[in-house]
Amino acid sequence: MKTVVLIIGANGQLGSVLTSSLQQKFGRGNVIASDLRDDKGFNGVFEVIDATDVQRIQQVVTQYNVTQIYHLAAILSAKGEETPLQTWDINMKTLFNVLEISRKNNIEKVFFPSSIAVFGEGASLHETPNDAYLDPSTVYGISKAAGENWAQYYFLRYGLDVRSIRYPGVIGYQSLPGGGTTDYAVDIYHKAVLKEEFDCFLKEDTTLPMIFMDDVIRATLELMEAPKENIKIRTSYNIAGISFSPAEVVSEIRKLYPDFKVNYRPDFRQEIASSWPKSINDSAASRDWGWKPEYDLESITTTMVQKLKEKYKTGSKNLEALML
Ligand code: SER
Repeated sequence: MKTVVLIIGANGQLGSVLTSSLQQKFGRGNVIASDLRDDKGFNGVFEVIDATDVQRIQQVVTQYNVTQIYHLAAILSAKGEETPLQTWDINMKTLFNVLEISRKNNIEKVFFPSSIAVFGEGASLHETPNDAYLDPSTVYGISKAAGENWAQYYFLRYGLDVRSIRYPGVIGYQSLPGGGTTDYAVDIYHKAVLKEEFDCFLKEDTTLPMIFMDDVIRATLELMEAPKENIKIRTSYNIAGISFSPAEVVSEIRKLYPDFKVNYRPDFRQEIASSWPKSINDSAASRDWGWKPEYDLESITTTMVQKLKEKYKTGSKNLEALML
């Protein structure tokens, strides 16, 4: 059977990059990118989908004979706190729609991203294990923790092959995050390259698990390619990249920009960050499907700076214009 992939949330930080990797893997015509808003400049097949509308997802699945779904749409941790009930509604409704459509249409594989936001005070802060107690502090985290259990339920009850990773904060030059607590770690590189001051919304010693975009994409594709019988965890897999604090990334950036100035102005996101792990134990992912990160803080920093310099040289100062 020909693989046809539907990506829901293809305009987002991860979606935009994952979409082009999936196009390379399966062929441009076999990847259907979708999001709430049309992407006029998109090179490939694009459909506008509001993932809260189950009929619209069904239409697209039928039209293209979709065989795999990557459900990336969600309201993230910081943004989600503005409207908790709406965030719960959107994050859960879109997931239920994807799970139900997948079950009814015999979708071969589904990808559902979870997050380090599922962990709260009940989990150890260091080397947080895969099976730690989950008591998330944000509505986003609650929706991801519930989503993981629903993913497992659909696997156990219906045999639906849903796979999931708990992403750390994702750092990439290709796209911008929106509404997350780890977003500072992308913004800081833009400010450094633009030779501007950076106002950091976390305290300088707030260590969080982070991961470079290339590692995230590779992890996702490796998980999805792994033989079904190797996937022993049907809630979600921890993956680690690299852990660092704002002070550590600043000192790395100052090796390239010695005059880089940072003001620490912690806001409500500090409390969210403080409830999250500082480092992640990913031994289950490494045992089951061979996960191993490649990028450390130094290689992330040199790559981010080099790529952003190239982008700003050719583009405008408008961050939106830098999106893929
Ligand atoms: N990067 C996300 C956030 O900060 C965590 O999954 O909300």
